Amino acid sequence: MKHLISAGDLGRDDALLILDTAEELARVSERSIKKLPTLRGRTVVNLFFEDSTRTRISFEAAAKRLSADVINFSAKGSSVSKGESLKDTALTLEAMGADAVVIRHSASGAPHRLATWVRGSVVNAGDGTHEHPTQALLDAFSMRRRMGRLEGLKVAVVGDVLHSRVARSNVLLLSTLGAEVTLVAPPTLLPVAVENWPCQVSYDLDAVLPKSDVVMMLRVQLERQNAAFFPSAREYSRRYGLDRQRFAKLHDDAIVMHPGPMNRGMEISAEVADSPRSTIVEQVGNGVTVRMAVLYLLLGGAIGGEVK
Ligand code: NCD
Repeated sequence: MKHLISAGDLGRDDALLILDTAEELARVSERSIKKLPTLRGRTVVNLFFEDSTRTRISFEAAAKRLSADVINFSAKGSSVSKGESLKDTALTLEAMGADAVVIRHSASGAPHRLATWVRGSVVNAGDGTHEHPTQALLDAFSMRRRMGRLEGLKVAVVGDVLHSRVARSNVLLLSTLGAEVTLVAPPTLLPVAVENWPCQVSYDLDAVLPKSDVVMMLRVQLERQNAAFFPSAREYSRRYGLDRQRFAKLHDDAIVMHPGPMNRGMEISAEVADSPRSTIVEQVGNGVTVRMAVLYLLLGGAIGGEVK
């Protein structure tokens, strides 16, 4: 495989190879000197057209730990604000010799188009409301580390599924890896044709919580909501927020996840977010390791083929 655009492109063996490679690379991240020479002389471009904290820094750290040269591009302050198209921006990067382009864009499908224009590998770091495959991989990695398995794990993904690329990529990847996903949201925040996704759907968080091993809370994406999807923030929290009372309904080993950034007090209370059973900070650390594995395997040509 040359690109990573959709979590659905990953078969079980490819997905497990990424997670297992990340597990090996995690040992490097625990050392005081965190660098490996693997991608020396290769160039990774981070092309960010949409705001990002975690994902952008995480890809940068991952590429640097593998000794790649990193070029960070953000649309603000670039010629994109002068109206330069994605294609011309891509061709400019091509001319600079990018071996991999990591792209985040507000348009669903932008990484797919980019892959037809550049010679290097394209990694989707979030395209509109479509997909975010490396987030799903780091979530699966974090779940496997905490729970010891993915097969048969019961995962509830809760909240603004409609606008969430994280939810879509997680459903695709987790179903490939044998976990059982239930999406929980008000009917207005579920995408059309969700019944065709490989998961269950529920409107009732209180009924799903006691049966879940993992609860993944999603950010309410107010910046993508062009209409009123729920009556008020307070009403949303009352029915779909994870607060202390609801947290108490989980079994003792269950964990709570969130991709960040959080709206504390809306989809998750501060107390739950900061509890020892929350993996939110761990997810960020695991993100670097998993992205190292993705860059290493894509640039080494080992996903979907022989290890070189
Ligand atoms: C997510 C994203 O950008 O899709 N965040 C992330 O990458 N960690 C989720 C979100 O914005 O809510």
